Amino acid sequence: MLRTHTCGELNTNHIGEEVILCGWVQRTRDFGGMTFLDLRDRYGITQLVFNMEWDVHLCEAARKLSREYVIRAKGKVTKRESINPKLPTGEIEIIVDEFEILNESKIPPFTIEDQTDGGEELRMKYRYLDLRRNPLRKNLEQRHALAMETRKYLCEQHFLEIETPYLIKSTPEGARDFVVPSRMNPGQFYALPQSPQTLKQILMVAGYDRYFQIVRCFRDEDLRADRQPEFTQIDCEMAFVDQEDILQVFEGLIIRLFSKVKGIELDSFPRISYDEAMKRFGSDKPDIRFGMEFTEITSRAKGKGFKVFDEAEIIVGINAKKCAQYSRKELDQLTEWVKRPQIGASGLIYIKFSEDGSLRSSIDKFFRQDHLRELSAEFSAKPGDLMLIIAGAKEKTLKALGELRLEMGNRLGLRNPNVYRPLWVIDFPLLEWDEELQRFFAMHHPFTSPKPEDIPLLETNPSLVRANAYDLVINGVEIGGGSIRIHLKELQNRMLRLLGFTQEEAQKQFGFLMDAFEYGAPPHGGIAFGFDRLCAIFGGSDSIRDFIAFPKNNSGRDMMLDSPSEISQQQLNELYLRINLP
Ligand code: AMO
Repeated sequence: MLRTHTCGELNTNHIGEEVILCGWVQRTRDFGGMTFLDLRDRYGITQLVFNMEWDVHLCEAARKLSREYVIRAKGKVTKRESINPKLPTGEIEIIVDEFEILNESKIPPFTIEDQTDGGEELRMKYRYLDLRRNPLRKNLEQRHALAMETRKYLCEQHFLEIETPYLIKSTPEGARDFVVPSRMNPGQFYALPQSPQTLKQILMVAGYDRYFQIVRCFRDEDLRADRQPEFTQIDCEMAFVDQEDILQVFEGLIIRLFSKVKGIELDSFPRISYDEAMKRFGSDKPDIRFGMEFTEITSRAKGKGFKVFDEAEIIVGINAKKCAQYSRKELDQLTEWVKRPQIGASGLIYIKFSEDGSLRSSIDKFFRQDHLRELSAEFSAKPGDLMLIIAGAKEKTLKALGELRLEMGNRLGLRNPNVYRPLWVIDFPLLEWDEELQRFFAMHHPFTSPKPEDIPLLETNPSLVRANAYDLVINGVEIGGGSIRIHLKELQNRMLRLLGFTQEEAQKQFGFLMDAFEYGAPPHGGIAFGFDRLCAIFGGSDSIRDFIAFPKNNSGRDMMLDSPSEISQQQLNELYLRINLP
């Protein structure tokens, strides 16, 4: 070993010892006769001291060291005069008697500090420098701890970690596939897995009744703060279980992770149905750290001559407590906010319950004081409260109000990142109707089982069929999702027919799974957690990028590798590919 200790472990117990440390120069401070140098590695920072009186040459050489040089220093641990209580090594320093430069460094393009001056793109280009910073190091350490504890818990529960291939056939999870051309099979392509869904089901047929894998998945979809083109899942499947068993086992996993990794003891998770989540929060991933639940006033608010209400399918609002003092300008801003295309509401109506007890609204023309009072009673509003109401088509209106609720939660500081409120959302609809394409899509994926009691509706009223599907939501983020699967060939065929597959297409794409179902497929089900999202939640962040060692930017580019990039004509030829740019 080049070193005897790391830069994070020396303390007063080591005083008097000769040690050798290696690391990067964080900074040097020159006080004429004395030079102090902070030496950093993954474990911490230790102060090195050089004194002109002890060794002029050594001290002068130390002064020349600049940021991020890699050095190896030998010296004696001594007690520090001015203690730094913020550092675990803050009570000692090293009187250096020799050092060597192991490597020089250019001046980094941004500061390697907790609060850096580098923009995100620059930090991604020089990711190795960004990764030297404490916040990122801590994120990756916590990610490691979460992966380890996950493995431990699942092993205790007799799960086997089994790897599945990356070069596979398309697995439909609703995104586009990334594809890989096959040199040995001209004109044919592998698809990278959007998830190991079908393979883990095949493992159940094979009798491996508890499988898990911490596995990379690939989806070619539009990127957001919580989406990467390649991301990691904790992917799990179990045989001979029902939904309750799965919820129990995986609630146990999440409780265990919070306890071991964050020291937070969680109570058992509430469960609400998809319908209830939409009705109360306008979202299938509600943030239940705060209330502000929806109040529907459709029947009460209709028939007063206000066209927007009279023509609406639903009229629904929230009570923003203590916001009656919102100015006209603030309300106009909120109205513009809900009218943005991403939110899609046609407008916003308010009722202010002033501190003096009077009611004022944007619909005063149509609603007398006693009407407004009636509506306020529906909201259980008190003096000082502000009611915000949206009207229109049901689904769109609920979703828009759901977004407004979150926005108000943000503005009012109700979404504390240190508070964790997980819940299960259950009883999802099996199918989703696509207006544009005039066809059904599987809400989860095509292998999800309908609730047995709803199976008769499959052909008569498919949109009413509920699935044995569930999501784990924490603080408004969908952390995981899963379902009980179809394990009978006949039902799987019916499902694929409903989704518009011809017999031939179904056989071509999923024949392997259907064939497997003919050889004793057990009842089974599972779940997958978005591991990057779980890490981000643990780190109190909305963005998953800083929890992935080498993430891609918003255009799916790796800024450091400068990828994707062109390949040579020879490579193209070998793959029988011709580029045909528009
Ligand atoms: P699903 O598609 O819901 O289910 O994915 C499971 C979880 O993975 C996370 N996730 C993502 N994280 C980062 N970037 C992305 N692009 C991304 N896409 C999804 C989410 C999500 O909840 N095979 C099924 C699981 C099953 O049924 O067992 C599946 O993949 O946190």
